[in-house]
Amino acid sequence: MSNYHIKHLEEYFKVYRKSVREPEIFWEEIAEEHFLWRKRWNKVLSWDFQKPEIKWFEGAKLNITENCIDRHLVTKGEKTAILFEPNNPDEEAQHISYNELYKKVNRFANVLKDEGIKKGDRVCIYLPMIPELAVSVLACARIGAIHSVVFAGFSSTALSTRINDSDCKMVITSDGSFRGAKTIDLKSIVDEALEDCPDVNSVLVAKRIHSEVTMKAGRDKWLQTLLDNASSECAPELMDAEDPLFILYTSGSTGKPKGMVHTTAGYMVYTAYTFKNMFQYKENDVYWCTADIGWITGHSYIVYGPLANGATTVMFEGVPSYPDFGRFWEIIQKHKVNQFYTAPTAIRALAKEKLDFVEKYDLSSLKVIGSVGEPINEEAWHWYNDNIGKRKSPVIDTWWQTETGGIMISPIPYVTPTIPTYATLPFIGVQPAIMDEAGNELKGNQVEGRLCIKFPWPSIARTIWGNHQRYKETYFTTYKDNYFTGDGALRDATGYYRITGRVDDVIIVSGHNLGTAPIEDAINEHPAVAESAIVGFPHDIKGNALYGYVILKETGNTRDHDNLRKEINQLITEHIGPIAKLNKIQFTEGLPKTRSGKIMRRILRKIACGDTSNLGDTSTLLNPEVVERIIEEKI
Ligand code: WTA
Repeated sequence: MSNYHIKHLEEYFKVYRKSVREPEIFWEEIAEEHFLWRKRWNKVLSWDFQKPEIKWFEGAKLNITENCIDRHLVTKGEKTAILFEPNNPDEEAQHISYNELYKKVNRFANVLKDEGIKKGDRVCIYLPMIPELAVSVLACARIGAIHSVVFAGFSSTALSTRINDSDCKMVITSDGSFRGAKTIDLKSIVDEALEDCPDVNSVLVAKRIHSEVTMKAGRDKWLQTLLDNASSECAPELMDAEDPLFILYTSGSTGKPKGMVHTTAGYMVYTAYTFKNMFQYKENDVYWCTADIGWITGHSYIVYGPLANGATTVMFEGVPSYPDFGRFWEIIQKHKVNQFYTAPTAIRALAKEKLDFVEKYDLSSLKVIGSVGEPINEEAWHWYNDNIGKRKSPVIDTWWQTETGGIMISPIPYVTPTIPTYATLPFIGVQPAIMDEAGNELKGNQVEGRLCIKFPWPSIARTIWGNHQRYKETYFTTYKDNYFTGDGALRDATGYYRITGRVDDVIIVSGHNLGTAPIEDAINEHPAVAESAIVGFPHDIKGNALYGYVILKETGNTRDHDNLRKEINQLITEHIGPIAKLNKIQFTEGLPKTRSGKIMRRILRKIACGDTSNLGDTSTLLNPEVVERIIEEKI
């Protein structure tokens, strides 16, 4: 009996119970029936959350690209695998069939080999949302190289930090990118980054905007020329189940970004299985996720999950506002999109515009509409449900993380009844726990606390690249024998989960996770700045915006504060990228600190939100008087 496709609520409960009672038998059946293995595993699961060490399907051999491409060729070689919709609506969309994808990936894989890339080498991919991005990801996987995709909105400093952290040998980029009416000069960002990356000896450059770029002799090569000369056959490298597939960086509460490592077999099984169920994907459906492949949502639900199911996956190069605010809806009509997956920040931005932008288009092809990346507020949920789903296509509010690899808590459309703002029930095999601050599990319903997961699922990240100790401390020490998510959650009277937001110093701005430390480091580079602290405050489109408290070196500094604000944001743009710019900057003379010198962000957060009525006990502060002053000075 296959439990691969869940269609009713009773079936969900039955399969869920099985996945918890007999996880190994359950996952073994899923793995056995739905994937192509070159050698079977010896053991389904071994795990120890203390060490921590997690292994799924140990001993198995496979290649994920055989599962995502080769095995579909006999039955759906001519089916569109990737449907590329360019930034400019006047440029023709590209339908890349599975047969064509096979050739493109193999050619690219051969180019990587010719350039000296071998199994286990790290390759950094810094590309816009063009087909070469998906193809280069798959080409790495074909030969067992570990891809590290860096979102092409990050600055050169952010790029070089990531390249060096995982010691990438090669960078794949393009001359530039189109984003709405703008073009961005990606190659020169790479050139700048590489001044600090001595180990990168090869740069492959795709042509997209046909701009003049400088090519460094011996290092930089035009991708197309190499592809033209490469064979379209490349035998897949046989990978161990636990061989790393990719590294993807995510922000932490403190310190530099964490290179989360995902491995091959478990990641493949879980992303494929969740994709099938979350989107109730049926043959001939056209599926579209608007995320960028630079984020985990793009890895799991544009590339690997859909392709492992032989689906048609749309890749959109542009932005929701270009040429106007109807672009998303126009694309849905044009390609008869059946499943649509986007972020609350995009929904909120589009909900602000006139409804004409939506009503002009025929959205009747839609069957499922999803949300991911941050809590979706009630108003946005209803707007999405009423105007896009037309109260027929269920809204799935999917909670998960870079670290979890795939969707963890979410309604299954047409299976789980939905309630606005609730991620509802755990997916098959996921065992959530809600904890109090003392570390006790809050059992039963109607409880609120911190969200942990008690038992491993196949696509949990296995480590942080080069820093297993940090992996252990971040995720497995706060709550013994549990994976700690960093999120708060409640479980209501019916057992439904609602995610309440981060409980650490990660701030989600427009769906992007930002750690406070790197932003503060960037600000502190300004010669006039002595110290700074960043907190989040609610913003009606971004979800959260950033509020910076900045202490200047010279008190009573006569320099123009508006200029300083601009310079500070410029520094942040250079060090991280425009996504991390501050919405508000308050110059102040002190920051509330504990006696051990830690900044009390809780207080700063409340002040930034304008909620100063109940600041809690400030008497234990080193400098309680500073709080009053900050409130008075508030802009
Ligand atoms: C938040 C994105 C509420 C959460 C896939 C999580 C959400 C962080 C939801 C991970 C949701 C994601 N409801 N919060 N449906 N989805 N989050 O790593 O705080 O970019 O920990 O992965 O986003 O963000 P990441």
